[in-house]
Amino acid sequence: MTLALSKGRILEDTLPMLSAAGVTPEEDPLTSRKLVFATNDPGLRLLVIRASDVPTFVAYGAADVGVAGKDVLVEHGGRDLYEPLDLGIARCRMMVAGLPGALDGPASRPLRVATKYVETARAHFARVGRQVEIIKLYGSMELAPIVGLADVIVDLVDTGNTLRANGLEAFTEIDTISSRLVVNKASMKMKHAAIQRLLATFATATGGGD
Ligand code: ATP
Ligand code: PRP
Ligand code: MG
Repeated sequence: MTLALSKGRILEDTLPMLSAAGVTPEEDPLTSRKLVFATNDPGLRLLVIRASDVPTFVAYGAADVGVAGKDVLVEHGGRDLYEPLDLGIARCRMMVAGLPGALDGPASRPLRVATKYVETARAHFARVGRQVEIIKLYGSMELAPIVGLADVIVDLVDTGNTLRANGLEAFTEIDTISSRLVVNKASMKMKHAAIQRLLATFATATGGGD
C-alpha cells in the first residue's frame, strides 16, 4: 500500500497522525531528501510530493491513498478519486481579496483576477455572474494588486497576516478548506481491507471514528 503525502504544511500536520497510529518512517521526511519512505509496517510506504501533484498520483494509482487540501482537489476536479475522510488539518479559507474598493473594478473592462486556483476562480465568478479575465500565477498572489497586474486575487487566507502585511483586504469567502484523505477507486475495491484499516487509523487520529 502506498500513501502519498503533500510536502509543506500538510506534511507537518500529517506526520503526528501517522506517529499516533504507530507508523514510523525509516527516516524523518521533514529533513530527508528521499521521496519514498519505507515504514515499520512492511505493507505501507510513503511518498512525499508537491501538494498539487497528490490527486494526480492517486488518480493514476501510483499511490493508493493520499492526503490533499480541498483547494487542490477542487482544482483537479476529483475524477477517479474517493474522498472518504476530512482530516481537519491545514484549515484555511479560499477568498477573493484586493486593495480596498477593488471589487468594484473598472467599468471599462472585465475584472482582472490573479490566482493559482484558475478553476475555482472561474467557477466562483461564473456563479456570481461576473465577467473576469483570469491571470494564472504560481505563488505570491498578494503582489499582483499592488503592482497593478490584477484588480483582485483568489487565494488562501488563514491568519490574514499576508493580506494585512500587503495592505489588502478580504472581500468574499468562496470555500472553507481543510485536508482530505483521497483513495484511488480501483484500490478501494482491490485493497479494500487494508484501506479500511488505514481509514480507521486516520479516523481515530482525527477523533472522527471509533
Ligand atoms: P505547491 O507545492 O503545490 O505549490 P504550496 O507550496 O502552496 O503548494 P503549502 O503552502 O504547503 O504548499 O500548502 C499545501 C496545502 O496546505 C494547500 O493546498 C492548502 O490546502 C493548505 N494551506 C496552504 N496555505 C495555508 C495556510 N496559510 N494555512 C493553512 N493551510 C494552508
Ligand atoms: C499561503 C497563501 C497565503 C498565505 C495565507 O501562502 O497562499 O499567501 O499562506 O496565510 P495567512 O493568512 O496566515 O497569512 P504560503 O505561505 O503557502 O506561500 P506560497 O505562495 O509559497 O504557497
Ligand atoms: Mg503555499
